[in-house]
Amino acid sequence: MFKKLYNPNLRSEKKEVLTQDGTVTLYSAEFDECYHSTKDGALQESLKKHIIPASILCDKDSLAILDICFGLGYNTLATLYYYKRNFPNKKLHIISPELDKSLVQSLRNFKYPKEFEPFRAVIEAVSQNFFYEDENIKIEVKIGDAREVIRGIETKIDILYQDAFSPKKNPALWTKEYFADIKKIASKDIIITTYSSATPVRLAMYENGFKVYNPPKSEVRSGTIASLKELDLEEIDMELKKQRNPNAKALSDGVLVVS
Ligand SMILES: C[S@@+](CC[C@H](N)C(=O)[O-])C[C@H]1O[C@@H](n2cnc3c(N)ncnc32)[C@H](O)[C@@H]1O
Repeated sequence: MFKKLYNPNLRSEKKEVLTQDGTVTLYSAEFDECYHSTKDGALQESLKKHIIPASILCDKDSLAILDICFGLGYNTLATLYYYKRNFPNKKLHIISPELDKSLVQSLRNFKYPKEFEPFRAVIEAVSQNFFYEDENIKIEVKIGDAREVIRGIETKIDILYQDAFSPKKNPALWTKEYFADIKKIASKDIIITTYSSATPVRLAMYENGFKVYNPPKSEVRSGTIASLKELDLEEIDMELKKQRNPNAKALSDGVLVVS
């Protein structure tokens, strides 16, 4: 397995960072990275990279969403915000692993954007009990290592927000073995959204049978959309990528080469 690239003793060291859209994220000293793109903005990144493309590509009446990982909860809260405005009757079941229990417990005091004000009860419940449920929404934050949590999920996942720290800083959540475990819990229509467009990550998906696409054009930086099914998006020819770059390899649990 991976040697730890980060120092867990730094887990509590975080500082607030104001992002381009006026919303606040944190910088993690443990991973030496911000929780969101400061250029795209925390809320805009969440909506435009994950929530909106996934909602267009997966329009079932009820959705099981895997949010990797909970962090500050932007993806989960932006999902509630977006679906409440656009698809208020949709049933949402969000499962989100998170290693950092004290971070989740601290979120009741986090400076969230005004868009999340209607979800104060959700924030309080998740922060205290790691759980929220009402008529249409169920949220389960599972404290622990996402790799372990995923192996215990019995629900078939329709949407995966793949939003871990970067492959360089947190490779264990981007390998072909990780995506093999994702495939085991994926519905046949799964939509994966991510900000990463790195070839070793795309190969890790592709080698598990996922088709890899360029996301629809938007104002935020590009990334990748992946699915087991054909999508009406520009598909990336991974065989051609491998021919052109014979040294390109999928990220793997056994090999720690992330450049
Ligand atoms: C980039 S942040 C996620 C941001 C989040 N999606 C949001 O919208 O606020 C990455 C998160 O992954 C968590 N994490 C890192 N490694 C993990 C692991 N192996 N299992 C579970 N959580 C992990 C970190 O504690 C951090 O909160």
